[in-house]
Amino acid sequence: MADSESGWNDVDALIDDRLVQPDKALSGCLERSRSAGLPDISVSPSQGKFLQMLVTVSGARRVLEIGTLGGFWTIFMARGVPADGMVVSLEANPDYVAVARENIAAAGQADKVEVIEGRALENLPGLEEPFDFHFIDADKVSNCDYVDHAVRLSSPGALIVVDNVVRAGAILAPKADDVMSIGTRRLYDHVSGHPMLDATAIQTVGAKGWDGMLVARVLQPS
Ligand code: DHB
Ligand code: MG
Repeated sequence: MADSESGWNDVDALIDDRLVQPDKALSGCLERSRSAGLPDISVSPSQGKFLQMLVTVSGARRVLEIGTLGGFWTIFMARGVPADGMVVSLEANPDYVAVARENIAAAGQADKVEVIEGRALENLPGLEEPFDFHFIDADKVSNCDYVDHAVRLSSPGALIVVDNVVRAGAILAPKADDVMSIGTRRLYDHVSGHPMLDATAIQTVGAKGWDGMLVARVLQPS
């Protein structure tokens, strides 16, 4: 039985082939991101489509993404919102912003997506209009602050999804210099004690190794 990382990769390849069928827009996005030297940390197509389906079944019309990278997740989420929906995506690195804008335009999603350049913690306070869905996938260190902004900016019943909440198990006992795992471990305490959030997380294996996503629902004040 394939129970190793090569097995995870093979199963991801099968899922992509039979269920996701990544198209030219997605493969072009990855190619441009790779040749521009962006880190190879975007999600697998199967995870991207999972997120797209979460956006669609939740009925989200306005999506906030924190951490655009090359726009791979962004394209999936833009496909998940209705024709009059939109994705606002925050990215600190100007080189990533340029690549993401090109990728999003090439995928035919430019009308639905606004990429805002700058540090998220500087731009979030200026956002006022609520969002139905939040996807947090940025520097990890500020995960708790990002969640607080997402809660503030949430429409009733909004969803908050946080990427990379397992980090190959490093969150169990983060090393003193592993600030990303420390920030992610802190997220669990923050969310579990939050009166307005009900959450779970799932672990994932696949082409992106062992990781996971946290999904939180913003409760309506009673
Ligand atoms: C890292 C960041 C990510 O957003 C991801 O999906 C995987 C890894 C990282 O910086 O280690
Ligand atoms: Mg990520």
